[in-house]
Amino acid sequence: MTVSAVYPGSFDPITYGHLDIIERAASRFDRLVVAVLQNPAKQALFAVDDRVRLIRETVDHIDNVRVERFQGLLVHFCHQHGIRVIVKGLRAVSDFEYELQMAQMNHRLGDVETLLMPTNPEWSYLSSSLVKEVARFGGRVDGVVPDKVAAALAERFS
Ligand code: PNS
Repeated sequence: MTVSAVYPGSFDPITYGHLDIIERAASRFDRLVVAVLQNPAKQALFAVDDRVRLIRETVDHIDNVRVERFQGLLVHFCHQHGIRVIVKGLRAVSDFEYELQMAQMNHRLGDVETLLMPTNPEWSYLSSSLVKEVARFGGRVDGVVPDKVAAALAERFS
């Protein structure tokens, strides 16, 4: 039996914190789908095509990872792809309350289990929002995001 999982998020943009979760989750499941939310109601820095491309370039060394975009409910995406496990990273206790709500709602909506994976402490302070703020004001983001993402941020804020 092939066991698949989805790692959903906005990934605006992908960071080394995300990559850590992707690598660890991919080593525990037969197949991992990174699902990038296309949310017309939320203004992202990078268009969904750019976010997907940057993730694909970042994970191309991992054979069992695919990157897809989705709209609407995550549980619908899971059903369409035969996925019954959601993986989310947990950076700190402050993440827990919202993650718990989503996990319980997704279980109710779609009989999909959520596994919360503690973030590597090296990246527990990291978020896409923080990275964007640092980059926007000319701070260095190399070492916390892949080189191609750092270049894309530099271009965006040049
Ligand atoms: O990286 P983010 O923005 O924290 O990811 C949040 C995400 C994409 C996982 C969450 O917003 C989501 O699943 N959105 C899809 C809509 C949905 O299913 N909402 C109900 C969740 S219980």
